[in-house]
Amino acid sequence: MTVPVITIDGPGGSGKGTIAHELAARLGWHCLDSGALYRITAVMGERRGIALDDEPALVALVNTLPILFEAGRILVDGTDLADAIRSEAAGTGASRVGALPGLRAALLQRQRDFASPPGLVADGRDMGTVVFPAAPLKVYLTASAEERANRRYNQLINKGEGVSLPALLEDIRARDERDIARPVAPLRPAEDAVHIDSTAMTIREVVDTVLAEAARRGLFAQAG
Ligand code: C5P
Repeated sequence: MTVPVITIDGPGGSGKGTIAHELAARLGWHCLDSGALYRITAVMGERRGIALDDEPALVALVNTLPILFEAGRILVDGTDLADAIRSEAAGTGASRVGALPGLRAALLQRQRDFASPPGLVADGRDMGTVVFPAAPLKVYLTASAEERANRRYNQLINKGEGVSLPALLEDIRARDERDIARPVAPLRPAEDAVHIDSTAMTIREVVDTVLAEAARRGLFAQAG
């Protein structure tokens, strides 16, 4: 049986995570935050003293690591890492381990296993190009680097983390560069992706645009 999948790819801070969760909630579908898997790998690698370029050791780690996503918690080997993986350091570490081809391969099946009825919304960098190439709806979500840095700044300030906006902007640009330039699964739109620039759009507008596309493709009975 084919499970419908909507993929949402794009650079960090484009709103993919928020949009994916909102869409999944509106549709009653499952949601895959693939970036969390890369972040978990980086955080657990560091906690276990593994260098973030030691590919065999990181592959062995992810192949044996019990990970459970449940109701806002991310239980990794029994510890809730939901907050720990959201730090800037975890994001940078994720981008480093994401450049390792063997590690990406090790995470592939784990990501595909999230596709179960009635459907899946998958958010990441290579959801439409590599992980779910047959997905009936692929979205490539962007926003200007300045707008993405602003959004991230506000998120971190709300969490009480002290950050500087210029440093965040620089970090976002560096991460984009690494994600776009890497030889394996680089960040790029799938050929058949619908492009949405969210710079001047509200979350609601983006979600409604994607739902309208999904309805047009007959992915669910009624437009939401
Ligand atoms: O989306 P998020 O910010 O959580 O991703 C963190 C990092 O993990 C990204 O910068 C990217 O390098 C990596 N990643 C990836 N492939 C994915 C999702 C995330 O390489 N599908």
